[in-house]
Amino acid sequence: MKIDITPWQVRSLRPDDAEALARYANNRSVWRNLNDAFPHPYTIGDARAWIALTQAEQPERNFALASPTELIGGIGLKLRDDVFRRSAEIGYWLGEPFWGQGIANAALRALTEWAFAEFDLVRIEARVFEWNPASCRVLEKAGYDREARMRQAVYKDGLVIDQFIYATLRG
Ligand SMILES: CC(C)(COP(=O)(O)OP(=O)(O)OC[C@H]1O[C@@H](n2cnc3c(N)ncnc32)[C@H](O)[C@@H]1OP(=O)(O)O)[C@@H](O)C(=O)NCCC(=O)NCCS
Repeated sequence: MKIDITPWQVRSLRPDDAEALARYANNRSVWRNLNDAFPHPYTIGDARAWIALTQAEQPERNFALASPTELIGGIGLKLRDDVFRRSAEIGYWLGEPFWGQGIANAALRALTEWAFAEFDLVRIEARVFEWNPASCRVLEKAGYDREARMRQAVYKDGLVIDQFIYATLRG
């Protein structure tokens, strides 16, 4: 899979992404805004295991965010089942040197459009920790609406915090 968002790309992960993945993912400021399933510290072994897992996915749903030369982040979908099977959750992160250039917003727009075209979804949602206004802004600029504040839903980095639910519907 490859979506061009010039000069960046959302594309399938490759074995040679491991070094850049470990370099940019191994950052407390990234980890602090993601679920604890995202390792910290993030080793080259973690990177290789993640790449292998995404390459085995059927259908493929986790991708690299990349510059023309290297992986710079990640974006992916969790497909739901049972009565939630027409919903998905989207998640993303970007290496800190690349923050503030509109890259996450462009990638989020592109993957949202791709997901609605690829899967029989009517709803895509995102969950954001209350201390992450940059991600709230990224979602709002991509047309997602804040639907809820889940009070004290999250225990992260030793603190109990609220979480926002954002969602967008098939147009
Ligand atoms: C959140 C994250 C993906 C944003 O990526 P990015 O490429 O820098 O985002 P963009 O440049 O597209 O947009 C960021 C927006 O947030 C705004 N912003 C940044 N810091 C902010 C703050 N402290 N308060 C309010 N707005 C802020 C920026 O001004 C920008 O809005 P603008 O275009 O209107 O100026 C990136 O910081 C990241 O990977 N963080 C760690 C992991 C993470 O939080 N993932 C999301 C989990 S829900």
